[in-house]
Formats: sequence, structure tokens, C-alpha cells
Amino acid sequence: MKARWRIAIDGEEAPFEAFADQTILKAALQAGAGLLSSCRNGTCRACRCHLLEGEIRYVIEWPGLSAEEKAEGWILPCVAQACSDLRLKRPDFGA
Ligand code: FES
Repeated sequence: MKARWRIAIDGEEAPFEAFADQTILKAALQAGAGLLSSCRNGTCRACRCHLLEGEIRYVIEWPGLSAEEKAEGWILPCVAQACSDLRLKRPDFGA
């Protein structure tokens, strides 16, 4: 049986589930969770989110984040898969 993880996005009412072999963005879109996206290959950074809790792995070798951004907890859900339950936060673009 494939592993499934629960993913919560701050501000969303209920977590959604993601299979371990699907990207977080794909699972979010299937669940109707609102994450921005464009390229879906880890280059445009439109989907960028903060990982508040949990572990991920990338499906590509060089996701479009700097080492500093990774250290700050930024992830690219379009090229990342969950390795545990996750809690994410969308970027605050200001009001
Ligand atoms: S959608 Fe472009 S980096 Fe994720």
C-alpha cells in the first residue's frame, strides 16, 4: 500500500492527503487547496511556500531555491514530495 501523508496549509480548514509518490502541488490541486503555480518544474518559484513542520524530498536535483532559502524553510511544492505529514504556509505578499 502506498504511503499517504496529511498536508495542512495555514489558513485552510482541513488538511488534504498526498501519496508519497506525488508532488505536493499535484495533491493540493486535486484536493482543491489553493497553491499558486505556473511552470510546475521548479524554476518559476510561483508555488514557493514555507515548510513549518515535516520532511520533504525533491524529485529534481536543483530546485530553484538558494541554500539560504532552503535553510529558511522555503520549498517548491511542484517538485517536492512529502516524507511525513506536513504543515505549510503560503508566502505573505502583503495586503
Ligand atoms: S510552479 Fe514554478 S517553481 Fe513551482
